[in-house]
Amino acid sequence: MSLSWSAKDHKPTNPAAAAGHKRPRSDCGNKVTVVLGAQWGDEGKGKVVDLLATEADVVCRCQGGNNAGHTVVVDGKEYDFHLLPSGIINPKSTSLIGNGVVIHLPGLFEEGDKNEKKGLKGWEKRLIVSDRAHLVFDFHQVVDGLQETERQAQEGKNIGTTKKGIGPAYSSKASRTGLRVCDLLGDFKDFSTRFKNLIHQYQSMYPTLTVDTEDQLKKLKEFAERLRPMVRDGVYYMYEALHGPPKKILVEGANAALLDIDFGTYPFVTSSNCTVGGACTGLGIPPLNIGEVFGVAKAYTTRVGIGAFPTEQLNATGELLQTRGHEVGVTTGRKRRCGWLDLVIVRYAHMINGFTAIALTKLDILDVLDEIKVGVAYKLNGKRIPHFPANMDVLHKVEVEYETFPGWKTDTAAARKWNDLPAKAQNYIRFIENHVGVPIKWVGVGKSRECMIQMF
Ligand code: GDP
Ligand code: IMO
Ligand code: MG
Repeated sequence: MSLSWSAKDHKPTNPAAAAGHKRPRSDCGNKVTVVLGAQWGDEGKGKVVDLLATEADVVCRCQGGNNAGHTVVVDGKEYDFHLLPSGIINPKSTSLIGNGVVIHLPGLFEEGDKNEKKGLKGWEKRLIVSDRAHLVFDFHQVVDGLQETERQAQEGKNIGTTKKGIGPAYSSKASRTGLRVCDLLGDFKDFSTRFKNLIHQYQSMYPTLTVDTEDQLKKLKEFAERLRPMVRDGVYYMYEALHGPPKKILVEGANAALLDIDFGTYPFVTSSNCTVGGACTGLGIPPLNIGEVFGVAKAYTTRVGIGAFPTEQLNATGELLQTRGHEVGVTTGRKRRCGWLDLVIVRYAHMINGFTAIALTKLDILDVLDEIKVGVAYKLNGKRIPHFPANMDVLHKVEVEYETFPGWKTDTAAARKWNDLPAKAQNYIRFIENHVGVPIKWVGVGKSRECMIQMF
């Protein structure tokens, strides 16, 4: 018997179908566009989302928490978003924080209030929060710090986390002792008991941990009432958005492929899936509804925190990229480590995510360089390896093979179309496109919304 996947070849075999019963047709509904980081974060996802969000009906976050720091520059004003989707800036779109996100409520409201002072209006009315999202408590953040101290003492190095409680909150979720938005809005007595149990659990692991439980509960009760009007069943909200009238739905990835808990440079990673699967699990949507998957990559590479970084430049080039690129963490204010563009990691990110196009940001930062290098392959013991190594000891040992390009030594900040770019910059872009095997749809030449060349 041959098996066929084609619907037209399918012969009904059950009696109801044979008797003429019509099966319902599966209608896929609207597609979502996903924007994902293709390196170690801070690629400029916020800027790309902002660009697309001007036409979006819904903008969703699906993973991570306020470890993310996304910058959006509109009309000369700079906004930074951590938990709020960058699309919140568009008064015509709805923003959704999905079930896969971990939410620190004091952080969320502080962020909203801070941006309100900068001119962001009506954000609480435009924000929807999934009732299945897990909560990050203040003590999760304290534990994050204690774990970092412990790592430093035990192994002589830590991860360099953002200390936003991300690892501990996802640990609570995975160990099934975490508390969700729906628990906070349900029976508060029951919530309080589970909250106290969770604290006891952490205190048995970290005896120095002190928590003013009653004060925390009082604050959480107040936050619950402010949050209540925004909370919905996220799965049903997305289902309706996908199957109602045509809608433009955008998913804003946080963190990035090389920080993914499964695919990143483990253990120097974050605690969520920052690759495309996270969009499905973090929102409760079927894979069939994923449409465009845009990868965002800087024209060079940066990394915050500890971990292998094969193309890192601990020299004048690295310093130039750091200062010209203003490479300072949005969330922690730490200097970002800098190096040449590593196409091995961008290709690896593409293997996992299946990018349909790439946004290449910060090309302008390279404007002053005499020559520009691009990492194209890794060698181990003199031999090229075709895969990205899982083991960090191996990744530390790889030798990077570079291609060298002449710099264009021209200011690109005013370029608005392909033909405005110098030929040497065009060559650099075309090389990246061909090497990764994904079309480059946008090239960034400055911070603000208009500094983006759209290629097609
Ligand atoms: P995200 O976390 O991926 O959203 O990125 P971040 O906001 O953390 O970091 C990107 C930084 O680069 C921000 O300061 C942006 O304003 C800035 N940026 C984004 N695209 C460009 C670009 O094309 N050129 C320049 N010069 N800056 C850019
Ligand atoms: P966006 O969305 C850059 C890094 C931290 C640390 C590791 C683990 O702005 O690109 P965590 O606090 O998540 O447990 O830290 O991951 N990291 C990021 N680096 N950009 C980010 O987000 C990051 N989110 C986490 O620096 O090395
Ligand atoms: Mg960032």
